[in-house]
Amino acid sequence: MAAARRRAFDDTAFPFSQRSCGVGPELSRPPQNDGMKKNARMTGATGLKIRRATLADAVPWTLLFDADGPRAEVEKYLARGEQWLAEQGGEVVGQMVLMETRADIWEIMNIAVADACKGQGIGTAMLKKAKSLATQRGAQRLEVGTGNSSLRELAFYQRFGFRIIGVDFDFFVRRWGKATKQGGIPLRDMIRMEMVLKAAS
Ligand SMILES: CC(C)(COP(=O)(O)OP(=O)(O)OC[C@H]1O[C@@H](n2cnc3c(N)ncnc32)[C@H](O)[C@@H]1OP(=O)(O)O)[C@@H](O)C(=O)NCCC(=O)NCCS
Repeated sequence: MAAARRRAFDDTAFPFSQRSCGVGPELSRPPQNDGMKKNARMTGATGLKIRRATLADAVPWTLLFDADGPRAEVEKYLARGEQWLAEQGGEVVGQMVLMETRADIWEIMNIAVADACKGQGIGTAMLKKAKSLATQRGAQRLEVGTGNSSLRELAFYQRFGFRIIGVDFDFFVRRWGKATKQGGIPLRDMIRMEMVLKAAS
């Protein structure tokens, strides 16, 4: 299974950042409820489907690398975890990788939305899916880690309900062999976050 999965890694990733967003046939359908109409961010997520990736799917490398790297590290959790694809109008507009890292703990190892589709609620829809999948599997906690310089991502996760539980100092310096900069802020530390889950009824 792992070997077959690795073969799928060789597929060429589509240049997601060049895709238009919100032009698929599903988006022209009338909204299903009035609440969605009032929320511009949610309107972009109308017609969104989130499904588990199969071996027939091209690995969306551009999206994976938008959130993390280097490739060898991404390949490790891609082989062990499960990838979910967000599709709109039949096109992949986002992805996430979930993995059981310890007993009763699931982690979002990677999550990204295509550039043209960011800020429309797709990322939040994937967080909801991750939370419900982890709850269904009996996990007690859902975790995620992000860079100290990823200020928008820190807001994104906390808005959803994640709380900061720790700092893995110099995680990114070890990972990349140096500190890079994001918005002028040295990217050094991994901010660890978690959400306590309620047992599925
Ligand atoms: C983080 C990410 C998955 C959020 O997906 P999304 O579909 O844009 O999220 P939503 O539309 O549900 O929510 C957007 C909110 O998240 C935050 N956000 C975080 N990163 C953002 C980005 N690069 N662009 C737009 N909004 C971003 C903003 O606070 C935004 O709120 P606002 O509209 O009030 O400004 C997406 O922006 C992304 O792919 N980022 C690059 C990859 C990455 O860094 N992944 C996380 C690694 S830890």
